Amino acid sequence: MKFTPRALLLKNGKEVILRSARISDTPALIQTIKNYLADSTYIPQTPEEFTMTLEEGQQWIASFITKDNSLLIVAEFDGAIIGNIDINGHQRQMMAHTAVIGMGILSEWRNTGLGTLLMREGIAWAKQQPILELLWLQVYPENDTAMALYKKMGFEESGIIKNFFKHHDRYYDNLTMSFPLKQHRIKTPL
Ligand SMILES: CC(C)(COP(=O)(O)OP(=O)(O)OC[C@H]1O[C@@H](n2cnc3c(N)ncnc32)[C@H](O)[C@@H]1OP(=O)(O)O)[C@@H](O)C(=O)NCCC(=O)NCCS
Repeated sequence: MKFTPRALLLKNGKEVILRSARISDTPALIQTIKNYLADSTYIPQTPEEFTMTLEEGQQWIASFITKDNSLLIVAEFDGAIIGNIDINGHQRQMMAHTAVIGMGILSEWRNTGLGTLLMREGIAWAKQQPILELLWLQVYPENDTAMALYKKMGFEESGIIKNFFKHHDRYYDNLTMSFPLKQHRIKTPL
């Protein structure tokens, strides 16, 4: 099994299951993503733009099941999907040692420690994958919760593209953060 499911306690005392996404999760996961996009100021996609069909969703989940540098973990409570983290490994050979992270949680489950658990399990899994060496992500610097989480987990700031996002009558910067999983295996030339 790619990722062994585990039951973990949140700060609110509730127990959630973290497990790999299955093809049969597709409709529920699509709905969860739509729901959290609707009230996430800091994910640069409107719910209307998220038009993933059932078939596309099945292919999307299947890609995480088959690619050895990728993993999609869902958090489940009482049979419902309440959040996810995706570790999306690059498909080009020269960047196959890297994976980009995306994550989101339903609003009523935020600030419960769930993001920390998803990220902790995701990083632990990535460290065990021989192919993976570097995780990275992009974040709005204004996203205080996400920034606190990523810094706590050890992500470092790599660089900013200023004025990258444009909505709500203003611009926002795009900050890239990265997390080296292993020592470099090839000597970098001086
Ligand atoms: C970002 C997100 C995934 C984090 O998950 P979460 O379950 O809310 O995060 P956690 O509760 O595990 O951790 C949040 C941390 O931020 C801290 N925090 C929360 N609000 C904060 C604020 N305004 N300023 C500083 N720190 C803050 C919390 O205290 C906690 O730190 P601690 O564990 O040391 O106490 C979740 O909030 C979410 O889905 N947000 C909407 C979608 C989104 O922004 N996705 C990320 C796009 S890059």
